[in-house]
Amino acid sequence: MEKSLPSSPFSIFVLLLLLLPFLTHHVKPINGFPLSTDCRWIVDDHTKQRVKLACVNWVSHLDTVVAEGLSKQPLDMISKQIVSMGFNCVRLTYPTFLATDDSLASLTVRQSFQNLNLTTFIAGIEKNNPFFLDLSLIQVYQAVVSNLGDNNIMVILDNHLTKPGWCCSNNDDNGFFGDKYFNPDLWIQGLTRMATLFKGVSNVVGMSLRNELRGHKQNVGEWYNYMPKGAEAVHSANPNVLVILSGLSFDTDLSFLKTRQVNLSFTGKLVFEMHWYSFTDGGVWGTGNPNQVCGKVSQRVMDAGGFLLQQKYPLFLSEFGLDQRGTNLNDNRYLNCLMGLATELDLDWAYWTLLENYYLREGVIDAKESYGILHWKRCEIRNSTMLQKILALRHPFQGPGQESGLHKVIFHPGTGLCVQKQTLNETLPLGDCSKSEAWSYTTEKSLVLNGTSFCVQADELGKSPKLGVNCSDSNSKWEMTSDSTMHLSSKLSNANGTLVCLDVDSSSRVVINPCKCLSEDHTCDPASQWFKLVDSTRSPST
Ligand SMILES: *[C@@H]1O[C@H](CO)[C@@H](O)[C@H](O)[C@H]1NC(C)=O
Ligand SMILES: *[C@@H]1O[C@H](CO)[C@@H](O)[C@H](O)[C@H]1NC(C)=O
Ligand SMILES: *[C@@H]1O[C@H](CO)[C@@H](O)[C@H](O)[C@H]1NC(C)=O
Ligand SMILES: *[C@@H]1O[C@H](CO)[C@@H](O)[C@H](O)[C@H]1NC(C)=O
Ligand SMILES: *[C@@H]1O[C@H](CO)[C@@H](O)[C@H](O)[C@H]1NC(C)=O
Ligand SMILES: *[C@@H]1O[C@H](CO)[C@@H](O)[C@H](O)[C@H]1NC(C)=O
Ligand SMILES: *[C@@H]1O[C@H](CO)[C@@H](O)[C@H](O)[C@H]1NC(C)=O
Repeated sequence: MEKSLPSSPFSIFVLLLLLLPFLTHHVKPINGFPLSTDCRWIVDDHTKQRVKLACVNWVSHLDTVVAEGLSKQPLDMISKQIVSMGFNCVRLTYPTFLATDDSLASLTVRQSFQNLNLTTFIAGIEKNNPFFLDLSLIQVYQAVVSNLGDNNIMVILDNHLTKPGWCCSNNDDNGFFGDKYFNPDLWIQGLTRMATLFKGVSNVVGMSLRNELRGHKQNVGEWYNYMPKGAEAVHSANPNVLVILSGLSFDTDLSFLKTRQVNLSFTGKLVFEMHWYSFTDGGVWGTGNPNQVCGKVSQRVMDAGGFLLQQKYPLFLSEFGLDQRGTNLNDNRYLNCLMGLATELDLDWAYWTLLENYYLREGVIDAKESYGILHWKRCEIRNSTMLQKILALRHPFQGPGQESGLHKVIFHPGTGLCVQKQTLNETLPLGDCSKSEAWSYTTEKSLVLNGTSFCVQADELGKSPKLGVNCSDSNSKWEMTSDSTMHLSSKLSNANGTLVCLDVDSSSRVVINPCKCLSEDHTCDPASQWFKLVDSTRSPST
């Protein structure tokens, strides 16, 4: 239910701040703070070096308005787990009412669970985070931010919706300016409060102004009317944070920015965000040929928002995710395509989502989240193979601070690994992209190991390619074949010019195989043969 506003809400906020110095005294400088933008890159404002956001979404906007998982693990354990997995950042969601409705914000955690008849979780919180039970919802939100800061994790405050609850649908009345729960003035008030509350909190590096605009009221004109107002309000309350703007249609569409830019009074802080799930494109992944679908969908993503990088704005892929059990065909095919494009574009990103359960989602207690990466009881990684692969996206390849000569890395989206150097005549191994070798893709289409005259040669079917010196031979020319452009194909000279492709076998070795699944067939999956030649100025082997 919507709650009415008390007459002088702001004073209560000030009071909370005064009463709780222990929650806000952490102003320890964090790596990278504050951040700003330099062309399409997010950079550390002091050193001007690139900071690549590798975030996980952590949900705190549902009915309880308490960060998920606190009934199962101590907060500090969860934060440390986030770090140990390899993330450097959390996109922490909140509902506007947490900032504007003091009767909500001042509820204690105990009351919030009691009001929803979720008393079973109270014992868990008492056990794992006893100190939180009688803190107010806004205090707990601050405590989560603060603990993430203690663990050197950057935070993006994400205004996920107005009224606590699951997001998002076209008719949840939270979708667009003017909806029942989307009063523009209240929204600006909420943004201003959050920006003010976290001013000087050094790990709060950005604010997502509104998640997934949508619904029958959405339109471009109002977007240009309100989004700059929100941006200006945040910036004037807290000039340190990045101001992150979402697009229309569930944040899948920023195409309108192609012809009309956003006019703001400040520079160096504007970032756009976009979401991309398998279901964004319906069921096409399962029913089409993955090369053809990947080619089409990649083009759609470039038209919807990818073009902003050429316009010199950072683009934050602030939600993507998939079923961690690996059983959803649509999801699996989508991820391989996404890994290729996101690596090529070297995007900042946030995975959806941290935990496998919600206290309460759409009336379901302890609801399952198949996209969650952690078992919340044991705080264990659900699928470490998949997580490792996704975290390959955290390596920056370009941008300020990556100052080696321009070269290529040969990225394999299916594993998240890169082709490494080999000693002459031996197999080409795959390995961690942060230690990847520098390759050049020449005008003759050969793949030459930088600093040598050796190039990748297709010798024999079923065998590893070799590094050889005859780089103008036909078996040293690699075409980027198929609609995905991710097959690297060559002609095998000792097999009557058979078209062959680089492939990765089940033991993660690079081998030469007949090209598979190039078009039409939708039953097969070409992903083991997908490679992306990614531009990099990262110093090799560092
Ligand atoms: C909680 O339980 C009480 C008693 O069974 C019921 O009257 C009330 O409507 C319930 N509240 C919610 C939010 O489900
Ligand atoms: C941007 O805003 C400034 C100041 O408000 C105004 O003078 C200018 O015309 C605007 N430009 C565009 C393209 O809207
Ligand atoms: C992890 O995901 C892979 C697909 O990437 C799948 O084959 C595997 O079964 C999953 N493992 C678990 C434990 O769910
Ligand atoms: C790799 O080789 C290319 C072409 O010879 C050169 O331009 C580039 O600077 C080299 N990069 C590195 C990292 O050595
Ligand atoms: C590589 O193979 C060639 C021809 O098979 C041979 O002449 C050469 O000695 C080998 N080089 C190494 C380092 O093994
Ligand atoms: C490489 O080219 C040289 C000179 O053309 C030739 O003698 C040699 O056999 C070639 N090696 C291979 C492995 O094709
Ligand atoms: C090459 O083609 C010839 C004639 O068609 C055939 O006899 C031979 O087996 C082929 N070789 C390979 C390796 O496919």
